[in-house]
Amino acid sequence: MVRESWASRVGFILAAVGSAVGLGNVWRFPWMTAEYGGSAFLVVYLCIVLLVGVPGLLAEFVIGRRSNRNPAGALARLAPGTKSWGYVGLFGVLTALVLLSFYSVVGGWIVRYFVASFSGSYFVDPSGYFGTISFGWEAVAFQVAFLALTALVIIGGVRRGIEAATKVMMPVIVVLLAVLAGWAITRPGAGAGLSFYLHFDPAPIKNDPIGMLRAAAGQALFTLSLGVGTMITYASYLGEDNSLPFDGSVIAVLNTAVGVLAGLVVFPLLFAFQGGLTEVTRGGESGAIFMGVAGAFREMPYGEVVAVGFFAAILFAALSSSISMLEIPVAYLVDEQDVSRRNATLGLTGLVLVTGAVCALTPSVFTFVAGTLVDLMLTAGLAGFLVFTGWVLGKNALAEFDSGAGGIARSLGTPWLWGVRTILPLFLLITLAVNLYSLL
Ligand code: PHE
Repeated sequence: MVRESWASRVGFILAAVGSAVGLGNVWRFPWMTAEYGGSAFLVVYLCIVLLVGVPGLLAEFVIGRRSNRNPAGALARLAPGTKSWGYVGLFGVLTALVLLSFYSVVGGWIVRYFVASFSGSYFVDPSGYFGTISFGWEAVAFQVAFLALTALVIIGGVRRGIEAATKVMMPVIVVLLAVLAGWAITRPGAGAGLSFYLHFDPAPIKNDPIGMLRAAAGQALFTLSLGVGTMITYASYLGEDNSLPFDGSVIAVLNTAVGVLAGLVVFPLLFAFQGGLTEVTRGGESGAIFMGVAGAFREMPYGEVVAVGFFAAILFAALSSSISMLEIPVAYLVDEQDVSRRNATLGLTGLVLVTGAVCALTPSVFTFVAGTLVDLMLTAGLAGFLVFTGWVLGKNALAEFDSGAGGIARSLGTPWLWGVRTILPLFLLITLAVNLYSLL
């Protein structure tokens, strides 16, 4: 059977942006920014996106386009004679399942908030509401709904599923967030939120440099969907050779722009309608943003309408990411085990229903998986992909990088390869060690 491919370059870019733009931007990013002191975190994070994220993205693209395979198949095929690299790819496939297990819990919360926004039923007691819906069997029910939506897109295939869905969802997200941000920043009192977010204050960096670096690195990988093999898988569906450096830069810029835009909605709303960051929103808790914005919606005129728009945008963002997670193990089963796309999707969704339910029923497991475990797995995974690209592919990686690239991009190829060989894996391994150390 002929392997599937994207119908167009724009389709590939939008799908990759769709994967990148997700709860990482609208939920985890404002949460981390609030926890690590606002603008200072933003600056550190942006540096890491540029210096580690973009080169890492390009390494995954190179592996994917060169092999036309899922991560496990890609690494095995590009390093013939050894089995061990295939296991590094397989680790990515496993990471995807772990990610989806917790991500679908949050996806379920969003489905719930979206539905409840029409009547504003959580306005009465925003914090209490989150407490009652976040974990337990009802949370599982909404998680099932979110996973069903995800599976539906994946069964549709690369072109008719992923590409068609993201082509609609991405523009809708941007328009909704832009309208909301325009409205939010012009509310009286929103200025304090803007200055918390955008006025640079280096104090938090000095207070806890290592903690901030760790959080910013974790966030940078998470938001660009790196270290799992998503970008390997998506690039494996590329037909013709266009410029990878160009496409990668567009994806990183759009992803960052949407993240910043989400911050322009959340912070002004919190400051204008909730009087700033309260104990709740500052608490560094997963539910902070939900309670915070829900409280803000209650206080404003036409809160239901704004809430519906807000949660619709987040729902689309979450879906376009969760499909990219499910696609990795599906691609693995389709490529390597000759399973049909449909059966692979149904089987894997069933599996995640079980592992996901564990997260939805046990808050301590959820917090561990969503924070520490995911950070560790993504960091280790990306370090593996970089070492593979730099040392196993070597010159071939450079050839793949150059293929279809313009003059300026080509001149960056050699420095890129050296970064991928040396500094970047080193940085990730140190991050990994610090994470492990703090875990113990
Ligand atoms: N980038 C996605 C987000 O920001 C999350 C994600 C991570 C998706 C890893 C795929 C792989 O929500």
